[in-house]
Amino acid sequence: MERTHYCGNVRAVDAGKGVVIFGWVSNKRDHGGLTFIDLRDRAGFVQVVFNGEKNHSIHGQAKGLSAEDVICVHGSVLKRPKGTENKGLPTGEVEVEAKTLELLNKSLPVPLEVTEHVNASEETRLKYRFLDLRRHSMQEKLLLRHKLTKVVRDYFDSHGFLEIETPILAKSTPEGARDYLVPSRVNPGRFFALPQSPQLFKQLLMVSGCDRYFQIARCFRDEDLRADRQPEFTQIDVEMSFISEEDIFEIVEGLVKEIFSKTINVQLKQPFPRMSYDEAMERFGVDAPDTRYGLELVDVSKEVENSDFNVFKDCLKSGGMVKSINLKSCGGFSKKEIEELTEFVKIYKAKGLAWLVHSKQGFDGPVKKFFPKKTLDLLAKKLGAGENDLLVFVADKPSIVNPALGYLRKHVAKKTGLVKENVFNFVWVYEFPLLFFNEEENRLESMHHPFTSPKPEHVPLLEKEPLKVRARAYDLVLNGIELGGGSIRIHSTELQQKMFDVLGISRPEAEARFGFFLEALKYGTPPHGGIAFGLDRIAMLLAGADSIREVIAFPKNKSAVSLMDGAPSEVSEKQLRELRIKLDFSQKKG
Ligand code: AMO
Ligand code: AMP
Repeated sequence: MERTHYCGNVRAVDAGKGVVIFGWVSNKRDHGGLTFIDLRDRAGFVQVVFNGEKNHSIHGQAKGLSAEDVICVHGSVLKRPKGTENKGLPTGEVEVEAKTLELLNKSLPVPLEVTEHVNASEETRLKYRFLDLRRHSMQEKLLLRHKLTKVVRDYFDSHGFLEIETPILAKSTPEGARDYLVPSRVNPGRFFALPQSPQLFKQLLMVSGCDRYFQIARCFRDEDLRADRQPEFTQIDVEMSFISEEDIFEIVEGLVKEIFSKTINVQLKQPFPRMSYDEAMERFGVDAPDTRYGLELVDVSKEVENSDFNVFKDCLKSGGMVKSINLKSCGGFSKKEIEELTEFVKIYKAKGLAWLVHSKQGFDGPVKKFFPKKTLDLLAKKLGAGENDLLVFVADKPSIVNPALGYLRKHVAKKTGLVKENVFNFVWVYEFPLLFFNEEENRLESMHHPFTSPKPEHVPLLEKEPLKVRARAYDLVLNGIELGGGSIRIHSTELQQKMFDVLGISRPEAEARFGFFLEALKYGTPPHGGIAFGLDRIAMLLAGADSIREVIAFPKNKSAVSLMDGAPSEVSEKQLRELRIKLDFSQKKG
């Protein structure tokens, strides 16, 4: 190979050596007799100098170069003259004096400037992703993700796991989102579903005796998108036989420790803290608690029992609760800021946000008049109210109070700069409810998925008090983001059938959707369990990015569209005919 160095790898020890470098013209500075070019490749930049006195013809050629032209330079490495070094750049001590210059390809003027100080919209970045990815920080993210997948594969390999691929053209599995469907031409009227996860296949691999499986698996879910959700994403998927929760925790903590150490050189402490689902809801209002800061939720239902505030009284009478957060040192919030917080909790269906400011003089605020002194004293004590604190309250049923205050907590922490950077707070959340009641659809649904095992001692409650049943399910949360979730599975046909009954999935429907799986369970299924991690989310957190789109080479935008290639796109009449599909836009979008 002709190339001797990546541009970004030339160093002071190379001074005096001849080099051959290839790359893209990133920046050109004309200083009369000297022209400087920052030449960029995958590894970074190096400054190339074209000296008009020493080599008139290539100096002239260099002047004609423009941004993103592709060139090859033969030259020699010089230490930069004293005082002109650039400490901020790994190649900042050196420059390459060009002896020859070959233009390999011209670039048109670029619609997206390839610079770290990109001020283009995300839309433009996604449309011209091939240019966006040329940026050094994007190349670093691709490298980080590569290292991450390599650590994962090496770790599982050294712990006796086999990586086994499972089908992409498959049958629908219930992970709670809509399926992406693929019509079958040879079986008209039939569809494959792209897997929402390899859940059933990995369980079947346990039935097959594989014992320890993992896969870096592509998953597809048609759901509302957010910064940490993509329609197409990657899971680190794991399943093990003859194990308990403790074995999963141990294997996973080892993996996560190794990932952090080998990708970003952060040494994590084990074991990770654990918290029951009930405790997470009580203290943080959400099942993915961010434990980097306080502002915990406090149940003050008892303390406000004797107030004259009808909002609270009526709520408590009807079996609801009142919870509060002491927003420390936020007593100076303006009316407008408090109004903004009120609007925020309304997103989560709270009817309002009552508040009190606590100062040296005691309490103040529009609802103070409803609270006798004794109640105010009790509140001050329970909430540890100090000077200049803002106490906020939501009264409602728990399913509204907890998320409203839980998300408000995260919102205020961000707004007031309480969120510490470069801190990695892991927590296992365990003992999730097995089921929840979907009020819109008026039916019970699995909190995780229907293959999750109930706690054995709760099985008798399944029929009469299903909402009390706790699952052998767990999530790993990092800084308030769910990284992964899994469970010990049901391995008995009877219990699995019972779960479908409880979920209101009729026998014929269960048979049609999961018959193959129920059948497999009958032939000596080992006890087993597993977990799956969002690989994109881990990469995002390692990279310090705020969206998983930043760590996916070719992501979709928030409307599930790939702006670069225009997918999804229309298909030809011929293709539709072959699939025997007729389009009908007369109905409203469902
Ligand atoms: P679950 O549905 O919790 O579990 O998914 C596991 C992890 O995958 C990530 N994730 C996503 N990442 C990006 N975009 C999405 N749309 C998206 N959806 C999920 C999250 C999540 O924690 N089969 C079970 C696992 C098991 O039981 O073993 C499952 O898929 O980080
Ligand atoms: P209102 O009685 O509607 O004028 O409300 C008085 C104050 O109580 C306002 O600050 C409301 O935002 C607040 N508020 C109303 N409903 C609730 C509720 N369910 N929980 C907490 N605060 C509420």
